Amino acid sequence: MDILRLQKEAQKKIEECRSLSDLGQLHTVYLGKNGEINTLLQNIKNLSLEEKKTAGKQINELKQSLTLLLSDKKISLTEKQSNDTKIDVTLPGKQFPRGTVHPITIAISEISAIFEKIGFIRMSYPEVDYEYFAFEALNMPATHAARDDFETTFLSTPENKKFGRMVLTPHTSNGQVREMLRVKNPPIRMINIGKCYRPNWDPTHTPMFHQFEGLCVDKDITIAHLKGTLDYFVKEYFGADTKIRLRPHHFQFTEPSFEVDITCTACKGTAVVNGNKCKICKSGWLELGGTGMTHPNVLRAGKIDPNIYSGWAFGFGIERVIMMKYGIDDIRNYYSGDLRFLQLF
Ligand code: DAH
Repeated sequence: MDILRLQKEAQKKIEECRSLSDLGQLHTVYLGKNGEINTLLQNIKNLSLEEKKTAGKQINELKQSLTLLLSDKKISLTEKQSNDTKIDVTLPGKQFPRGTVHPITIAISEISAIFEKIGFIRMSYPEVDYEYFAFEALNMPATHAARDDFETTFLSTPENKKFGRMVLTPHTSNGQVREMLRVKNPPIRMINIGKCYRPNWDPTHTPMFHQFEGLCVDKDITIAHLKGTLDYFVKEYFGADTKIRLRPHHFQFTEPSFEVDITCTACKGTAVVNGNKCKICKSGWLELGGTGMTHPNVLRAGKIDPNIYSGWAFGFGIERVIMMKYGIDDIRNYYSGDLRFLQLF
């Protein structure tokens, strides 16, 4: 009676068992040293001879059948477990977020590459420099009104007798005379890319921004070389259908001076988009930045004889050219840290 009940109970428990560790426990409960089967066997001695015979046989059969059930169950649970942990190679992989290069950094390498192709070398000049290189050497004496155009942050460091106070450079033009003094004998073909500082904060100005400054000095350099180089640059950077125009302007360090415009990247210079006036340019043209033929006084400051050599220069904003290229309307996006914007590039 006990044996039959035990058999039923054990069968049921083994059948319902769902894990290998539970199965291990069942094995101990029934077949272990102090398990149910051994207990039954030990109790056999209390039975009559006749009963001993049948009980012994039944217990042995029960032992065999439980051994079989337990080992079958072990096989099926092991199989199930390995099926559960099998890798499904058709599932999509885990996505790890990837960083992107900052749009300013991308533009800097694109612009450097464009100028390097035509023999310009990339230079970096101080971001914190003397007034002399930022202004005086560029034909802008301390009292000159033109200096007001370059709102400047001064440092409280001691003044240098020869070069004056130190400033956060308001433009990359401070590299011009430094490059002339470095090279000594032209030709010079330089592209100077750096950070500039002016205390403004609005949709088109940030207090820190970047400029790229080109300088070319050699014998017989004319406006034709300047126009040719600018034309090459805008076609490479903005697209082959981009045109330039020069408008007369004034800078102390160039004579003559110009502002460069390019045909609008949105309306291609037509001033019309889908039958409406182009919202980006209104006129078909967008202003790129300042340029001109290097002033003789600037060449002199760089110890270059203006009777033998001539040159040209330009200074454009990096943030500005990216905005023009992609139609971005707020410069502050670059420094917002907003990944939705930064990941567009
Ligand atoms: N330095 C000027 C500015 O920041 C830009 C500029 C104008 C640079 C004419 C030049 C130049 O080299 O020739 O507004």
